Amino acid sequence: MSFPSITIPLECQEKTIALGHILGLTTHEGGVIALVGDLGAGKTTFTQGFCAGVGGIDPESVSSPTFVLLQHYPGRLTVHHFDVYRLESLEQFWDLGPSEYCQGDGVALVEWADRVAPLLPDDRLQIELMHISIEEIKDNSKFTEGRKAILHALGPVHNQWLIRAKDRLEKQFPGLSSMQR
Ligand SMILES: Nc1ncnc2c1ncn2[C@@H]1O[C@H](COP(=O)(O)OP(=O)(O)O)[C@@H](O)[C@H]1O
Ligand SMILES: [Mg+2]
Repeated sequence: MSFPSITIPLECQEKTIALGHILGLTTHEGGVIALVGDLGAGKTTFTQGFCAGVGGIDPESVSSPTFVLLQHYPGRLTVHHFDVYRLESLEQFWDLGPSEYCQGDGVALVEWADRVAPLLPDDRLQIELMHISIEEIKDNSKFTEGRKAILHALGPVHNQWLIRAKDRLEKQFPGLSSMQR
């Protein structure tokens, strides 16, 4: 069964944080977010907003230092933050224990998730972040560079999460009338 995806324009950094915040507020134990997007697309920024939304985590403590593949942020739920940019092999990822962190009582976020997709749970929330000029998003005379996010639940549990977040998302991103649900 496949679920509809939702495209959200993120005109500035604050919007990326706001999207993360809403998903952090509405997340559930065992939530898994697969973050896909190039360098600078906003994956870590999203993660900072997410941790603020989860609660009990200082977003300033959220970072992606080079060569650190996994960090844990204890809060209302513990956020397990993978950044596999520097990963050398799938085995190296497996050794980090992703199944434990993806099925436990915390939440897992994975930057560069496309690199380890075969080792992630099937039911997960994929968030693709990409650079986009505002012109592409809406008729706006500013030439600022922004981002857009495509949210796609890959299974029923994570689709329920999006349904839970729907009202907040529509309030924060009023142009979302195209949400297909
Ligand atoms: N929606 C946005 N519009 C403009 N800049 C953004 C947006 N979201 C994030 N940024 C900026 O992009 C830069 C890179 O973000 P970062 O989260 O580190 O990317 P990644 O983790 O994907 O490499 C940061 O300076 C951040 O402030
Ligand atoms: Mg990053």
